[in-house]
Amino acid sequence: MHRSAEAMVAQDEQPRHAGEAIVAQEEQLRRAAEAFRVEWLGRKQGRLNEVSSRWLKAAPPEAKKLVGQRFNEFKAKLEDLVDAALDTHLDPSDAALRAQSIDITLPGTRRLIGAEHPITRTMNEIVQVFAALGYSVGVGPEVETDFYNFESMNFPPGHPARDTQDTLIIAGQERKPLRDRLLLRTHTSPVQMRTMELEPPPVRIVIPGKVHRNDAADATHSPIFHQVEGLCVDTHITFSDLKGTLDHAMKALFGSSVKTRFFPSFFPFTEPSADVQITCIFCGGKGCRKCKQSGWIELLGCGMVDPAVFAFAQEKQPAYDPKKISGFAFGMGVERIAMMKYGISEIGQFYSGDMRFLGQFA
Ligand code: DAH
Repeated sequence: MHRSAEAMVAQDEQPRHAGEAIVAQEEQLRRAAEAFRVEWLGRKQGRLNEVSSRWLKAAPPEAKKLVGQRFNEFKAKLEDLVDAALDTHLDPSDAALRAQSIDITLPGTRRLIGAEHPITRTMNEIVQVFAALGYSVGVGPEVETDFYNFESMNFPPGHPARDTQDTLIIAGQERKPLRDRLLLRTHTSPVQMRTMELEPPPVRIVIPGKVHRNDAADATHSPIFHQVEGLCVDTHITFSDLKGTLDHAMKALFGSSVKTRFFPSFFPFTEPSADVQITCIFCGGKGCRKCKQSGWIELLGCGMVDPAVFAFAQEKQPAYDPKKISGFAFGMGVERIAMMKYGISEIGQFYSGDMRFLGQFA
């Protein structure tokens, strides 16, 4: 440490010495040019005065014109020479010019190198795990229609399941049919339908993105957060495929010693549905405050795609025939996973823009 600091100082000295030498040389040349000026063009003792009186003034009248011309040419040449010399070897006391010049003895301007935000980084990491399994990556709009966000995901109009995902609705759309009304999407699941409408099976896709909920902000909730959605549809896709895929993904994200278990749950767009729990990464499954002594932490939702969802997809892509194909889907909260991975207890830290927090991930 000490030695390398010394080496750095020594390295810094080199350009400084070189700079000083150049400044000294410039000053010498400037002085020489000034002395030359005084010697030849000086008002009283300049040699040009001598030339003038010896040759010009003494010239016979018939030669005066020619000698005068020659004399003036000689004088102009001398003046030009002196001007050029003084111009290149500037007076270093000239403040305006000094301000423009570079002080090469100053330390350089350090540019901070940017880094990925922890949310972006976690999102990319999740996507990468599935990309390695052959999944493609897709995105969809954040301002979504009621149809894609709710109806096609099997939340019929007026269904109580809609109450769990309240959101902001774009104003002034009362004249439109409900299915076309715009809202801020509450989950990335609508991109499942957008994907199926565009591509026939087989489909393997992950969809990272931002979502919105009418949730009060607290330590673990934010009205805007991020999800990664997954969808896999093919012939003979089973719940075992779902379990194997997500077990692998959790091990890839949290370490190979992590175990998973699947708990019965409910989502309108999957049947059966499950919550995936992993062994608590803080206590290794023994039970602690973080996992409320259970040894397990709930991390994401998943399930087998409901035939009602395939029925909506079939309107545009007949190949999504639930008698011939099957699939699974999953959705995970990026903030929640990032908080677990990095031991963060306040979700708000992600959005604070506080460099002391963000710098830790650089
Ligand atoms: N969309 C769900 C939510 O935001 C998460 C989810 C659960 C997505 C199960 C899925 C799934 O694709 O199968 O709460």
